[in-house]
Amino acid sequence: MQLTDTEKAMRDGANGPAVARSMDLLIRYGEALGAERLVETRNVAGAYNASTPSVRSLAEEGYDRVFSELNLDSDEVVDVPRMAVPTCQLITGIDLDNHELQGADPALVEMQRAGEKYLGKRGVNMMCTCTPYQVGNVPVQGEHCAWMESSAVIYCNSVLGARTNVEGKESTGAAGLTGRIPYWGLHRPENRHANRLIRVETEVNDMADWGVLGYFTGFEVEENKPAFEGLTHLPDLMKLKHFGAAAASSGGVEMYHMPGITPEAPTMDAAFGGAARPEAIVFGEAEKRRTWARLQNATDRKLDFVMLGCPHNSIEQMSLVAELLEGRKIHPDTALWVHTPRAIRQIADRSGYTDIIRAAGGEVMSDTCPSISRRMPKGVRVIATDSAKQAHYLPAIGKVQGWFGSVQQCVDSAVAGEWLGVVQ
Ligand code: F3S
Repeated sequence: MQLTDTEKAMRDGANGPAVARSMDLLIRYGEALGAERLVETRNVAGAYNASTPSVRSLAEEGYDRVFSELNLDSDEVVDVPRMAVPTCQLITGIDLDNHELQGADPALVEMQRAGEKYLGKRGVNMMCTCTPYQVGNVPVQGEHCAWMESSAVIYCNSVLGARTNVEGKESTGAAGLTGRIPYWGLHRPENRHANRLIRVETEVNDMADWGVLGYFTGFEVEENKPAFEGLTHLPDLMKLKHFGAAAASSGGVEMYHMPGITPEAPTMDAAFGGAARPEAIVFGEAEKRRTWARLQNATDRKLDFVMLGCPHNSIEQMSLVAELLEGRKIHPDTALWVHTPRAIRQIADRSGYTDIIRAAGGEVMSDTCPSISRRMPKGVRVIATDSAKQAHYLPAIGKVQGWFGSVQQCVDSAVAGEWLGVVQ
């Protein structure tokens, strides 16, 4: 690993033991990946605030102990200084305003509060969402980032044209303290070209369609980089968010190319870097139907819980949910939780959307989601969601049956107390 003089000094302790640990970790990590050098980053998004029972004993020894062990992979406790570069917290496990609804242990809630205070003092911006790009962390094209969270990474690479691999708790801890990350994978321009082709031969327009296309894509291309042709409708932020989250769930897609969307793919030739295009994988009506069916993991229609907002909802989505719920009542046996970043929740509050959703019997949640927190309303057996990602994970994580459908189907079903969408 070639290091600059500044990096050598950091490694050798010039900036204190936490930074030295961080450099040591990044060097070992980079060498294991075959990286020849590190690259500077000024944009880190990681998971620092852990409020789980397994972390409790560490937290009792202080939050330096938690950070050292979980974010620096260090048994030795080091004094953690302020982050060297802008760093934000992704999603957490507890909604500090709705922890009772989540059934969170009060001791863990206190841990979360204390952890946030500790991190804030060290310059970690408590965005507490899987969609930092919706609340002010919008890297520019070509910017090197160190992000965790697969749905954010695919958006960062493919829509914003910034560069990140899927990082982990330790590498983002070390990146925040040093402003460095190994230069490999999607940081290198030559690794970002498309190597799979998907030809869309059916209409992909509403948000659910985009989730289905993403889910299909992940299964088909696994960890490769697909380019798309045949799309007739340009997607917006919320559709791209759902599409990418789904592709990163059924497969390990971290980057795709959509001419007209992906900054590095003004044309198909550019997407493939001038290389020959592979044979196309077709997404037609039959594939769309089959993928939609694959997302249904339920047989019972009686619905206990509807989860919206995976990835966290944009303000447009909050407005849509409120519009669909206005003047209606959710069935008394069904819970509805709508998830959005806390910063967007404030706009939803001021716009009256939160009141409408709550008047209908729903809840607006922030900071977390059921798959990450592993918390749902008590006694849930059957869920429905508008997110292919949540439909993929929650039945397995929560041991529940899961339906997937459009926002409209989910809202109508919450009101009816039973699944009104497709039953396979
Ligand atoms: Fe975000 Fe949770 Fe979905 S982290 S992408 S809402 S599974």
